[in-house]
Amino acid sequence: MMDEERFITSTRLESDRDSEVTLRPQKLTDYVGQTKIKSNLEVFIEASKKRGEALDHVLLYGPPGLGKTTLSHIIANELGVELKITSGPAIERAGDLAAILTNLNENDVLFVDEIHRLNRAVEEILYPAMEDYALDIVMGKGPSARTMRLNLPKFTLIGATTRAGMLTGPLRDRFGVILRLEMYEADELAKIIKRSAAILDIDIDDDACYEIARRSRGTPRIANRLLKRVRDFAVVMQEGKVNKKITRHALMLMEVDELGLDYTDRKVLETMINKFGGRPVGLETIAAATNEEAVTIEDVVEPYLLQLGFIARTPRGRIALEAAYKHLGYQYDGQNQINMFEKSKDEDDE
Ligand SMILES: Nc1ncnc2c1ncn2[C@@H]1O[C@H](COP(=O)(O)OP(=O)(O)OP(=O)(O)O)[C@@H](O)[C@H]1O
Ligand SMILES: [Mg+2]
Repeated sequence: MMDEERFITSTRLESDRDSEVTLRPQKLTDYVGQTKIKSNLEVFIEASKKRGEALDHVLLYGPPGLGKTTLSHIIANELGVELKITSGPAIERAGDLAAILTNLNENDVLFVDEIHRLNRAVEEILYPAMEDYALDIVMGKGPSARTMRLNLPKFTLIGATTRAGMLTGPLRDRFGVILRLEMYEADELAKIIKRSAAILDIDIDDDACYEIARRSRGTPRIANRLLKRVRDFAVVMQEGKVNKKITRHALMLMEVDELGLDYTDRKVLETMINKFGGRPVGLETIAAATNEEAVTIEDVVEPYLLQLGFIARTPRGRIALEAAYKHLGYQYDGQNQINMFEKSKDEDDE
């Protein structure tokens, strides 16, 4: 099954686009969970407003669908400034970035999504822009070339990435505030689901909210998506009222299990257990054996399986842990622990 067809993927699907805008909280107080991040931001935002200065540059990182884009909108909102949005791959040439930067107003927020995908030439323009609010322009060519420094308005760069590890050191160092988004607890997701249901005018009871929350893999985007799909079932089967029974039934038909694992997760785990007998196995090998893309496994499947303690990353590769065997109904004989110290057959990565 391709990623596009999964209900459970945390990457954004085309069908999420419209509702994400309506469901996106606008204020920090409506942003559920991430308490540490919120209390930090509250202070920074207030201080920057009091001083009338731009907020320090902020780097947001964490798996897809946890609320990085949402948080950037909120930050700009709370600061009462404009938000300009772009992304790493969208800025192809240094000139593109220069144009964006010179069009900013004082204290504006520039949001750069997928910031780990900026190319090197563009990134180099960004360094003085972030540090000194200046643009270094090279005039002419060869020995007669001169650099001219152009002052920029003071602005806040918010960078978002699912891969903090892929950021270059110099770029990372230029962020004054680095925030890591955590997966959400079930009660936080239940709150998000309740709020979304109210906005979408869905009649749902608390039990059903929790039932969806528990199966949303700690991710608000998935919670909202499951809510909408469950509503569809409820509309067809019982005039739109969403209760626990219909929720369980709908999720079963969607092949989303008690923990939120779907077909792809189970396929990955079963491959690790059956094909590789619990031995450490490399990401590329898992990808080839399951017919999934390695990035999908790494960004979407793995974070939640790690969080559940179903798999572990070892220097020799990924291993399935006892909890995964139990969940899938396999006998665990501790084999993977013994084999962890043997030489793995595939050391194509890590
Ligand atoms: N803390 C939150 N409270 C309420 N809703 C949230 C929260 N975080 C995210 N959401 C909801 O989840 C959806 C996805 O969030 P968002 O687009 O901000 O994720 P993201 O981290 O930017 O994902 P990606 O890495 O794919 O860009 C939003 O439309 C919003 O409705
Ligand atoms: Mg985003």
